[in-house]
Amino acid sequence: MRILGIETSCDETAAAVVEDGRKILTNVVASSVELHQKTGGIIPEVAAREQLKCIIPVIQEAIRETQDVRRKTQEKKTSPVSRIAYHDIDAIAVTIGPGLIGSLLVGVETAKTLAYLWKKPIVPINHLQAHLYANWLMPENKEHRTKNIEPEFPAIGLVVSGGHTDLVLMKGHQQIKWLGGTRDDAAGECFDKTARILGLDYPGGPAIAASAAPFSILHSPFTIHLPRPMIHEDNFDFSFSGLKTALRRFAPQGKLTSELVIALAYEIQEAITDVLVAKTLRAAKKYQVKSILLAGGVTANPRLREKIQKALLSYDLFIPQVQLCTDNATFVAACAFFNFHPVPFSKIQADSSLEIEEVIK
Ligand code: KG4
Ligand code: ZN
Repeated sequence: MRILGIETSCDETAAAVVEDGRKILTNVVASSVELHQKTGGIIPEVAAREQLKCIIPVIQEAIRETQDVRRKTQEKKTSPVSRIAYHDIDAIAVTIGPGLIGSLLVGVETAKTLAYLWKKPIVPINHLQAHLYANWLMPENKEHRTKNIEPEFPAIGLVVSGGHTDLVLMKGHQQIKWLGGTRDDAAGECFDKTARILGLDYPGGPAIAASAAPFSILHSPFTIHLPRPMIHEDNFDFSFSGLKTALRRFAPQGKLTSELVIALAYEIQEAITDVLVAKTLRAAKKYQVKSILLAGGVTANPRLREKIQKALLSYDLFIPQVQLCTDNATFVAACAFFNFHPVPFSKIQADSSLEIEEVIK
């Protein structure tokens, strides 16, 4: 089954065609991040207007590329070339939330229109659940350290993005139980806000990771220790907003040398990733799961990947390929394959505040 995924929840406009929830045939992402860099953060109206500009060309490219993929494989097999077009798509999947309402509406209304015109089933998708499905894409699209190529249930999922930090227990597809989450800022938001304090670019996660890379404990003249909020509390909650204030104490305005920025970037990254790893492992132990799945933009962080890979002993660990951690439509299409519940297009509505547990009916 070939599903066209459409994703427009934030500042990426994305479309992808995925076969049987695993094989990526095409993956097209247009990002308006450069526009937001100028303002140091996302302005929802600007993001929505960009979505509107990009949505049709992005979908056209996703489908046109499919033709190329098919042509190439068929040429190899020397079988007759047949054109692939929209009628070779079996269904459409679209993110309906959570996210910025203006951005979501562009994807949702476009998907509904296409479903009507093309007479295709349409599957509404929860963006947070969808992130987890990047771990079902083909092996070359993820890092899996252990014997199983696909996640087995029960599984613990850590979803860490710009707006969310959630730990969930997955007993099966569509059986998601929320265990805990952030009480204030999301992990990605913490990266973004502390990067701003350090004078680094938006988005802050990759900027902090790049800044921290040359840090060496032996050679740094600074000894900086930031708190690891809630790390020892026996729950699955997080709190990252205090780290901004803690960081400011070490980052006097106008006195930030490049060496100090490197040391602070390193320590903030250590603080955030220590807490994420500790809580994820605690959840895995408590629920005696078979797999741990990481998902969301923050999962692209190299220290987070390294720490959890070193720490894990008895669970299968799945981490999506770096490019598939941040928003794209491959995981939207994959999620729809494993949770195939089409809905009449007229019943589909964007929902900016959808929760991770919510099953869409
Ligand atoms: O999942 P995502 O692409 O969009 C949302 O659904 O929010 O996540 C974006 C977030 C941003 O906060 C960004 O700073 C963070 O993911 N991020 C990273 C890295 N790459 C992206 N955080 C830490 N390290 C990274 N390498
Ligand atoms: Zn996301």
